[in-house]
Order: sequence, then structure tokens, then C-alpha cells
Amino acid sequence: MADLRFTNFSFFLVLFASLLVAASCRGHSRNALFIFGGSWNDVGNNNYMETAIKANFLPYGETFFKNATGRASNGRLVPDFIAGFAKLPLIPPYLSPDNNEFTNGLNYASAGAGALTETNVGMTIGLKTQLSFFKFTKKHLDVKLGEAKTKTLLSRALYMFSIGSSDYITFATHKKTELPSYAREEYVKMVIGNLTDAIQVINMSW
Ligand SMILES: *[C@@H]1O[C@H](CO)[C@@H](O)[C@H](O)[C@H]1NC(C)=O
Ligand SMILES: *[C@@H]1O[C@H](CO)[C@@H](O)[C@H](O)[C@H]1NC(C)=O
Repeated sequence: MADLRFTNFSFFLVLFASLLVAASCRGHSRNALFIFGGSWNDVGNNNYMETAIKANFLPYGETFFKNATGRASNGRLVPDFIAGFAKLPLIPPYLSPDNNEFTNGLNYASAGAGALTETNVGMTIGLKTQLSFFKFTKKHLDVKLGEAKTKTLLSRALYMFSIGSSDYITFATHKKTELPSYAREEYVKMVIGNLTDAIQVINMSW
């Protein structure tokens, strides 16, 4: 198991074709940050899952947090810096029991996640499930703030994605995916198609 875990992480940290998309609205200051994706963006969701894909041990976290937080980094991740630049607090993981203050946004990213449901299935929160968590958050916001304020909040928020590397790794290694028999072009189209769908779902959610 330790070997598997290590192999996964050395892969995750390599620069594979990954995608950072910031879809947001015209010129307003950002009041909230909603974060999706894999290990580059996971700030601790996998800590709350039964999975071998975890970064909850040192030296992860040792330079900034002085402890392992679940981030696959010794320090902060890009969403942490973006939150800082936007003068927001660190955006907590969705699965954390301490995520009660979610009017600044939430982080749904899960190390190992892909745009395709089949990628690392059962070991991570795939993009579709991340979107369903986002929809739960919207419902909670509707109750907490009212629908009009929620609409404003969501339309001015910043949405970050970093996903795709695990889809391509699993395809390239023909492991841990139930979709190994596609042609490359077809597979890439499915990855991009599912990511595009996700962005559209978010775009239509306010
Ligand atoms: C460090 O992290 C471990 C595991 O997540 C936790 O059990 C421990 O309480 C943490 N220590 C501090 C000082 O936060
Ligand atoms: C999304 O991925 C699934 C496989 O998980 C695939 O069957 C489907 O065609 C993809 N959707 C798009 C729009 O490409």
C-alpha cells in the first residue's frame, strides 16, 4: 500500500496536461471562491475518505502549516494563495466538519479525481460528485442567505478547476480505469467534454 501511495503522489505532482480554468463574471471583486479538481487543489477532502490517496503525513505541510493538512505540498496550494490575494480566509474542504462558514466558498477538490467518473473510481471524489456537493452548498446558501443574495454571491464568485492529469495518467498506464480501450483522441474528447459540461452546470446554477 505504501508503494502505491507513493507512486500515485509522484505522478500527481508531475506536470501532466492539466487545466486551470477560472470562469467568472465581469469585473466584480471576488467575494467567494469555489474550487474543484484533483491533488493540486485538494486542501484536505481526502482526509475524510477511506482511500489510499492521502497526504496527511509529514513532510506534507511542514513549511507553512507545520503539520500535514491533506495538501499534496509542503506548503500552500494555488487556491490558498488566490484566497489570500482576494483577501479571503483559506477556503476549507467541503468534507471538513468545520466548514460551517461557507459564504466565502468551499473546496470540493479530491486528490486523484478525474473529469471522468471512471478515473480512480472509489478512491476519490470525481468531478460529477464534486458538482453535486456544490449543488448542496447552493441549497444551504439559499436557506442561509435567501435566493437573491445567493444568486449574487454565486454570480460574482471565482471558480477554479485543476483536473485532467489523473484521467490521462490512468489512461496512459491502463490502470485504475474502466475505459482503457478508447483511442487517444476519443478519450481526450471525453475528458474535455465532461469538463465543459461541469463548467456549464456551474454557469447555469445562478
Ligand atoms: C497534526 O496532524 C495530525 C494528523 O492529521 C493530528 O493528529 C495532530 O493533532 C496535528 N497536530 C497539530 C499540532 O495540529
Ligand atoms: C463524459 O464521460 C463519460 C465517461 O465517463 C462519457 O461516456 C461521456 O460521453 C462524456 N461526456 C462528454 C460530453 O464527452
